[in-house]
Amino acid sequence: MNATQPTKPVLRWPGGKRRLLKELLPLVPPPSEAHCYCEVFAGSAVLLLTKPRHSTEVVNDLNSDIVALMRNAHHHLPALLEELSWFIASRQDFQDFKAQPGLTEIQRAARFLLRNRVSFGGGGASFGVAKAKGGGVGFDRDEIGERLEGIRRRLNKVVVENLPYERCLQNYDSPNSFFFLDPPYVGGDIKAYSPWKQEDMVTLRTRLDRLQGRWLLTVNDSPDNRKLFGDCRVRPVTTRNLRANKRTHADATFGELIIQPA
Ligand SMILES: C[S@@+](CC[C@H](N)C(=O)[O-])C[C@H]1O[C@@H](n2cnc3c(N)ncnc32)[C@H](O)[C@@H]1O
Repeated sequence: MNATQPTKPVLRWPGGKRRLLKELLPLVPPPSEAHCYCEVFAGSAVLLLTKPRHSTEVVNDLNSDIVALMRNAHHHLPALLEELSWFIASRQDFQDFKAQPGLTEIQRAARFLLRNRVSFGGGGASFGVAKAKGGGVGFDRDEIGERLEGIRRRLNKVVVENLPYERCLQNYDSPNSFFFLDPPYVGGDIKAYSPWKQEDMVTLRTRLDRLQGRWLLTVNDSPDNRKLFGDCRVRPVTTRNLRANKRTHADATFGELIIQPA
């Protein structure tokens, strides 16, 4: 099995696990111990892009824009780059690109990527304004092109699914499977996808208990989640909330739980 160099994600996805990679990577079993690696709530798929290759790999997300972007980067990269080549970080384009009927799939994927890159926190809801050095917002076509090229190479042989998570677990479960699950936070206020309710987390817990494969889960730290996963191995971590305004939120941090079966 080839180890791979980490690939940089192209989406700035809210709730993305880039800041937890140091904690998460050692918990992914090596390819010799898990033949099938499945990232069930992929978003920017940052863990898949960073870890070594497994012989079977699956990324899944309910968001069809993410899946279409990955598919187009995989199969139509030159056309996607050509479409992106005239984009600039423009507030007017950001608004216009929200809903434009009659586009090709490549045009839709390019507009989705632009709106993600230039929006506040990657949420796609409002145009981001950044003044600080390295503020992160803006549209660097050269950098995007390099990242898409890296993703095209890394997605070779990866299965890209667009399923509700239950179907994904059902399809890919086996004693040799490993699932990384990073569902939406309970009660989160992220605009790019719907928050979960505590009942959703309870349903997920029940489903995880029936898996034959191994799993690794990240959830928001709350008394309910601590209780729900009280019999598992739970590691609390604090991360910086990149979406919080540091002027108005002195403590721009939040807690997450890294959970594995006991
Ligand atoms: C916290 S984000 C994942 C972030 C990702 N780990 C990363 O590093 O970028 C949660 C993702 O779950 C997806 N999602 C929400 N409900 C889902 C469901 N029922 N089945 C599959 N995916 C779902 C959302 O579209 C969103 O992209």
